[in-house]
Amino acid sequence: MTSPAEPLELHDPSSRGFASDNYAGIHPEALAALAAANGGHQVSYGDDVYTARLQEVFRSHFGPDAQAFPVFNGTGANVVGLSAMTGRWSAVVAAETAHINVDECGAPEKVAGIKLLTVPTPDGRLTPELVDRQAWGWGDEHRAQPHVVSLTQSTELGTLYEPGQIRALADHAHERGMLVHMDGSRIANAAAALDVPMQKFTTDAGVDVLSFGGTKNGLMLGEAVVVLNPELAPSIKYLRKSAMQLASKMRFVSAQLLALLEGDLWLRNARHANAMAARLAAAVQGLPRLEITRPVQANAVFAILPKDVTERLQKRFRFYTWDFSTGEVRWMTAFDTTEEDVDAFAAAIAADLTG
Ligand SMILES: Cc1ncc(COP(=O)(O)O)c(C=O)c1O
Repeated sequence: MTSPAEPLELHDPSSRGFASDNYAGIHPEALAALAAANGGHQVSYGDDVYTARLQEVFRSHFGPDAQAFPVFNGTGANVVGLSAMTGRWSAVVAAETAHINVDECGAPEKVAGIKLLTVPTPDGRLTPELVDRQAWGWGDEHRAQPHVVSLTQSTELGTLYEPGQIRALADHAHERGMLVHMDGSRIANAAAALDVPMQKFTTDAGVDVLSFGGTKNGLMLGEAVVVLNPELAPSIKYLRKSAMQLASKMRFVSAQLLALLEGDLWLRNARHANAMAARLAAAVQGLPRLEITRPVQANAVFAILPKDVTERLQKRFRFYTWDFSTGEVRWMTAFDTTEEDVDAFAAAIAADLTG
């Protein structure tokens, strides 16, 4: 009998940086939920008891008409959701900084077949006026038809839409016959920061389809296309399969989402990540040669500091330069960022800037 090999420890599990909330591992409660869902056989492709229960849980958060379709990742959620909202000559209006525009390798264009019409924004947020820069030309066969507005909550720049701002955007879009998509890869951080239920700035604010994010909030993997406008639901299951986002062992995606949403794990994780970003911002605010460049509203801190300082810090702590032309960097916090992590990082920044 050979004994099973000891798993290799290829990384230091106590080492954490500020590169991204998806650098974090799996929250122990999500991992436990995976283990609990293991064993025995369950029907594949979503006809399992976990995915059935998940529907009730999503309805409790987003209202009685919500329908959730678990998928593997955020790009997939966006592509599947947008596909259900568009036709073959459609365009989607989005902020220039939107993940669908800058970080999805053209998947919305390639897989959903849409044209993205983007607008520069001061802080990652669209307004009705900004939407109007691209929302025009209906009936003109020379122009891809603007059929959807896509917004991200919290935004790629760590900023937030107030529920009323989303309502105004949704009213504006609907009056023009357009639908509203929300990239909610970090929706929990937004709800925690606004201190309102997620329904308040989605279903109640007129959002038609939501890409619900679980991965950045403590799951191993797992997101969901949440259809809030029931008219858009019938095509999703076909679109999800043809976009290669249908998990055969879906119970393990659903069990994780259940672990997040059935109790308050989603909120605890998001509150903690947000608090760590606020702690970091407070600790470095006012340091010489450092400027915080965006309002710190969720779990991201953006700052400009001298490039040589950044390079030295990056040898010790993982984080990304966001804009090489200005030297702006992005520091993300996660559910597992500790106060000690933040304090040590802030101390290293301060020592380099003042030493
Ligand atoms: C705003 C936003 N949307 C969506 C995603 C989903 O990306 P992925 O396809 O890597 O899960 C991300 C991940 O970085 C993101 O930041």
